[in-house]
Amino acid sequence: MTCLQNFTELNIPEIDRQLTEQVQSINAPEILKEAMNYSLAAGGKRVRPLFLLAVLDFLQVKHSEASTVGAAIEMVHTYSLIHDDLPSMDNDDYRRGKLTNHKVYGDALAILAGDGLLTYSFGVLSRLKTVPAEDKLELIQLMSEAAGAEGMVGGQVLDIESERKIISVEELETIHINKTGALLSFSILAGAILASADASTRKALQDFGFHIGLAFQIQDDILDIEGTTESLGKTAGKDVASEKNTYPALLTLDGAKIKRDWHYNQSIESLRHISSEPGLLDELAAYIVNRSK
Ligand code: IPE
Ligand code: IPE
Ligand code: MG
Ligand code: MG
Ligand code: MG
Repeated sequence: MTCLQNFTELNIPEIDRQLTEQVQSINAPEILKEAMNYSLAAGGKRVRPLFLLAVLDFLQVKHSEASTVGAAIEMVHTYSLIHDDLPSMDNDDYRRGKLTNHKVYGDALAILAGDGLLTYSFGVLSRLKTVPAEDKLELIQLMSEAAGAEGMVGGQVLDIESERKIISVEELETIHINKTGALLSFSILAGAILASADASTRKALQDFGFHIGLAFQIQDDILDIEGTTESLGKTAGKDVASEKNTYPALLTLDGAKIKRDWHYNQSIESLRHISSEPGLLDELAAYIVNRSK
């Protein structure tokens, strides 16, 4: 068993427990809680919380509320998937190996379950007990930037607007950096904040986040072509069918892999500014570009 496998098997149950308990404790209509929990409990790789925890491991800092912050980020991510799958957006029927939220609960409840998860996630950050007030404020501010119009939401708008249009690789890079890179990078920076990392460590981790976030979405584009619906848990070939702008569409599959590997190598180089010794964070980055789902 690799170190990463060990780490994953140790930490994912705790993240899942937090997600279940947090949603269970909400004072809200049962059907809304059920819809929120449906997509959270469907699983997912939990990549963003794992990045946060791997940063703390890399910096050799322990933090009792790290998985709570990870769970908050996972709520934002899950909301983004529920909305991304809506008929008015990517119109997908399967997610995380199950029917999409709106297929089970209808569009209205799916939109509201997403709204509920997004809003609640900020409450989770505000209630952290052991994080100093100024760090909490920074986490909240940075998560709002990463998730909102300046980050993911803005990127999703550009993604939808550019369907069936010809755009440049630079424009596609902007879409990917925002729709996916922003929240993934925030997970990494959140680890640095919880670890009270110094400015140069933060800078190196920001560079790492930029490159691995981009590599992550390039691999997502590649898997749309190379993966199967069964292994992905979401319909393969959807990007081609929807005439989405993706790295393989613009650069060919081989060109996309060259870009992915270049960003992966850059990300690893950033880590060497922090430590000459590779760690779990290196392993997680390698998993991101080699994953098959
Ligand atoms: C899918 O994210 C959407 C993108 C941002 C590419 P993940 O690949 O992390 O999906 P889950 O969480 O494992 O389902
Ligand atoms: C989704 O990108 C990004 C967000 C959810 C913010 P995609 O549309 O490529 O993700 P999948 O392929 O549906 O998971
Ligand atoms: Mg999309
Ligand atoms: Mg999609
Ligand atoms: Mg995709």
